[in-house]
Amino acid sequence: MPDNRSTLQLDSNGELKHLLTLDGLSRELLTEILDRAETFLPPEGEQTIRKVPILRGKTVINLFFENSTRTRMTFDLAASRLSADVLTLDVGTSSASKGESLLDTLRNIEAMHAHLFVIRHTASGAAHFFAEHAAPGVSVLNAGDGNHAHPTQALLDMLTIRQHKGDFTKLSVAVVGDILHSRVARSQIHALRILGVPDIRICGPRTLLPVGLEVMGARVFDRLDDALEGVDVVNMLRVQRERMQGPYLPSADAYFHDYGLTPERLQRAKPDAIVMHPGPMNRGVEIDSAVADGGQSVILQQVTNGVAVRMAVMAMTLGRQGGAE
Ligand code: CP
Repeated sequence: MPDNRSTLQLDSNGELKHLLTLDGLSRELLTEILDRAETFLPPEGEQTIRKVPILRGKTVINLFFENSTRTRMTFDLAASRLSADVLTLDVGTSSASKGESLLDTLRNIEAMHAHLFVIRHTASGAAHFFAEHAAPGVSVLNAGDGNHAHPTQALLDMLTIRQHKGDFTKLSVAVVGDILHSRVARSQIHALRILGVPDIRICGPRTLLPVGLEVMGARVFDRLDDALEGVDVVNMLRVQRERMQGPYLPSADAYFHDYGLTPERLQRAKPDAIVMHPGPMNRGVEIDSAVADGGQSVILQQVTNGVAVRMAVMAMTLGRQGGAE
């Protein structure tokens, strides 16, 4: 029996209508998204993804109420490569700054016959709100809402892991850093659990760890050296100072001393472990430049995979059998 999240996200054929969170989705569906993304990757030796006509005649609206480099640009590129018409609303100069409500913004853009909204917002739940109020046939993709979810980021992370490691069911994965404020961490933990990763390790200062991580299927480590022991994947997260109200950390130097990923620390992981970071990175705070730019880093490959994953999600939501409902 699907829960509320699945009911909102899936249509009556069980196909993806909106993507708001990975929580509640099936392993089969996540695997289908990753498989579809693989089909959009450029062939070996080619640098760019070829344009395909899958979304010709469709209009995609990017609404970014919060800053972004990677997500916004890769959603733009993904929609263009699918031949959609793409409009990006610069929220800073839009009528939202004059007090227009989110619902009125939605209704007015829908009146321009938009088919798909990509929304990033500082408020957790903003994408759900859009999906609940969207007209039939309009899809909504969550590009990051508050500290709640960033599902396409976690999917591109899973694609990157699968490219390097293959079988999820044998992996140890460490997620390190500011978990409390991280929508990426929440979505990653859901994705790793759904895909069958047996050993999900979470590490960070206690002030930056939310309660309930064990319920989500993760083990909590206080010491980074312990969390890194023998892992296949190290996923470093940014310290999100913009979301902190109060003294969560003594200083950036103290944080780097205890939780920064250095070449010496990385030696505790498996020799072929990969290092990931969703970006933007704070070099010298959560990660040493020698690691970020080193041979085990797949950080820029994550960004490349973002285009293919976002193409897959757009193609699946707008190209459903049932279409509008
Ligand atoms: N990883 C990520 O969401 O980066 P941006 O904030 O630059 O989109």
